[in-house]
Amino acid sequence: MRNLIEINDLSVKEIAELISVAEDIIADPQKYAHVCAGKKLATLFFEPSTRTRLSFEAAMYELGGNVLSVAGANSSSAAKGESVADTAKVISCYADIIAMRHPKEGAPLVASMNASIPVINAGDGGHNHPTQTLADLLTIWRKKGRLDNLTVGFCGDLKFGRTVHSLITALSRYTGIKVVLISPDELKLPSYIKKDVLKANNIPYEQSTDLVEMIPQLDILYMTRVQRERFFNEEDYLRLKHSYILTPDKLKNAKSDMCILHPLPRVNEISVAVDDDERACYFDQVLNGKYMRMALILKLLEVSL
Ligand code: NCD
Repeated sequence: MRNLIEINDLSVKEIAELISVAEDIIADPQKYAHVCAGKKLATLFFEPSTRTRLSFEAAMYELGGNVLSVAGANSSSAAKGESVADTAKVISCYADIIAMRHPKEGAPLVASMNASIPVINAGDGGHNHPTQTLADLLTIWRKKGRLDNLTVGFCGDLKFGRTVHSLITALSRYTGIKVVLISPDELKLPSYIKKDVLKANNIPYEQSTDLVEMIPQLDILYMTRVQRERFFNEEDYLRLKHSYILTPDKLKNAKSDMCILHPLPRVNEISVAVDDDERACYFDQVLNGKYMRMALILKLLEVSL
């Protein structure tokens, strides 16, 4: 039985296969409309979410399956003190697959070790978010036609931004990738990722605090929200939250085909005036997330057409 806890649980070949299934779903959604009939997805979200949870649920419905949902630790037995391990065992009796979001790093891994059904990590603390990465990769693929030979800038909260950690890990397996890390000093990419992912895979990278200076070389600009919920004090958050705001003016020296991504929700990192720019791809990313989750559910449930 397969789980998706971190992005490298999938090989590069399997990611290519998921992309081609997603492309096929986009081309002919009707073909997939009933393939998961009789199957149930349980979404266990112990942390706020709109798009990820609804995206999983929409994905399952569009495959003809059903959804059982727990939103918020307060409305579940976790509030009574139930362990993640027990929750996973219990849900295994009701559902066929679990998507779990949890504020604690490693909780979905613990769930996967105790569940008898596949577990998908839908975001664990400041750690990983592999299904957002699948959405990001499909978006890059559809816009650029490739996942290699790209200079990718990450801007904002690189310390706590789990989507950044997972996407950097995924991209480090392709050739010709260069990474540009743009953040305030306090929100730099954790050193374990620099060492275990970037250096270990010989990925060239540079670090800067200056978005405008770095923007001309980028093929992809991945903007992120400052992760307020992971800060230890509000003062630091307030000081750092306006570090980077992408405006049409700052895009002047960017490549004409640069692709702007953001996992959303946006607070103020991208001005709404940028939404009309052809390079803005963040709403496509949302839709692509649903298609990749559909492809992933099919794979983990071993459903064939
Ligand atoms: C991201 C997350 O939850 O990490 N959101 C998402 O899943 N699309 C990004 C964020 O919350 O900033």
